[in-house]
Amino acid sequence: MQKTLLLIKPNACKHNLIGRIIDMVERNGFVVVDLKLFTMTKDIANEFYEMHQLRDFFSKLIEFMTSGKTVAVILEKDNAIADLRLLVGNTNPSEANPGTIRYLYGESTTINAVHASDSEENALREIDIIFNKQ
Ligand code: CMP
Repeated sequence: MQKTLLLIKPNACKHNLIGRIIDMVERNGFVVVDLKLFTMTKDIANEFYEMHQLRDFFSKLIEFMTSGKTVAVILEKDNAIADLRLLVGNTNPSEANPGTIRYLYGESTTINAVHASDSEENALREIDIIFNKQ
């Protein structure tokens, strides 16, 4: 069994999509291990996305991620990290496969409805930031 972190971002929370997104992941075999509804602080957003700090979209990303409620969900399943990224779809919703979460609910490359950890190391790092520091 592997754990991963899903963030349901502020645009999806604002549009009442929390239940639909959790339903999608549960129907795809993921088990919810823990979850948390919160508003990301600037400090936590900076730490969470520190690998992107030199990118031109960084300030837009931090502004968006601190703009409203986020739901963080720890999910468990065999091959959870790769399988969740498949279900989430391409970072840019206009390039995401039909049926993926970002295809359905993403608005732009920044406002893309959800985040999913991209490696075991990052899953552990992200879970620690959100569940032990925020
Ligand atoms: P996420 O999976 O949360 O990881 C990093 C985030 O940065 C990504 O989703 C997008 O919200 C944002 N992002 C990544 N690349 C770009 C880009 N080229 N332009 C704007 N935002 C981006």
